[in-house]
Amino acid sequence: MKERVFSGMRPTGKLHLGHLAGALTNWVKLQDDYECFYSIVDWHALMSEYADSKQIKANCREVILDWLASGLDPEKCSIFVQSMVPQHAEIHLAFSMVTPLGWLERCPTYKDQIKNIQNKDLGTYAFLGYPVLMAGDILLYKAGRVPVGEDQSAHLELTREIARRFNYFYGPIFPEPETLLTPTPKVPGTDGRKMSKSYGNSLNISEDLKELWEKLRTMKTDPQRERRKDPGNPDVCPVWDIHKVFNPDMEEKVKLDAGCRAAGIGCIECKKALYGHLERLLEPIQRKRRHFEQHEDELNDILRAGAGRAKTVAERTMEEVVAAIGFFR
Ligand code: TRP
Repeated sequence: MKERVFSGMRPTGKLHLGHLAGALTNWVKLQDDYECFYSIVDWHALMSEYADSKQIKANCREVILDWLASGLDPEKCSIFVQSMVPQHAEIHLAFSMVTPLGWLERCPTYKDQIKNIQNKDLGTYAFLGYPVLMAGDILLYKAGRVPVGEDQSAHLELTREIARRFNYFYGPIFPEPETLLTPTPKVPGTDGRKMSKSYGNSLNISEDLKELWEKLRTMKTDPQRERRKDPGNPDVCPVWDIHKVFNPDMEEKVKLDAGCRAAGIGCIECKKALYGHLERLLEPIQRKRRHFEQHEDELNDILRAGAGRAKTVAERTMEEVVAAIGFFR
């Protein structure tokens, strides 16, 4: 029996190279060694997008396309949309009974978002409970490991605390999941800041390759290197950060690094080299994406099968939960 892995992603729309390097590459590796459940968490999206929910459906589709294109294999893992497995909502309710308000109010991601997000009202009951739904996602499958980035560790800690508290009241049902910390390589966007949809600086997995070159070509480099004859410093160059993540050719990197420092090469030459590697990486991914774009039926079958497998596990867990609480049956 393989150990179980669960992870989720909010449907934010087309995924970018940061998602690919930071999560998907790792998820693809895990599907060989674990029984993986990967969910597009649309209820989580609704917690912040409730006032304008119209985009969620289309965004789910984009995420699924990017997942399949990037190598998540529905023969090896279960891919599903969270709201298609209603037990997520049910376990969220059960966990909300035992979660002290203070745990949620003290959560650093909550405090941070309440302070920083101005364009929507996140002062809702549900948004405070975001980590409760996340704990439900994971524990519904009794997942032993959860691959996430550092930004999610507080949520994982809360998940363990909720599991412990539920077990304390009702008996030992839930294991305490371990964080499988995904090393998140630094992937800057076109403006040099962290690649993020909200900054509008993304290089998408599905980016048209001509457009990708245009974005790379005009991307900022070492700000001190104003002219071709100025020596550059790769250590402060955002294009170089992308090389480090996506260029597997060590020899070439040594040459480019030295060439930049000695003003032996220009930025365009370095960007062309990077573009070549990205093109090689993305071409097969985009081909696969187009296949699923044109085969809606296959996509729906994959999601239905994924949700079916998820539901089998989820129903079993909820039966245990209901029995442990002692509800009438
Ligand atoms: N909160 C996670 C994020 O924003 C998404 C998520 C929801 C998740 N449920 C999960 C991740 C369960 C791991 C496990 O990235």
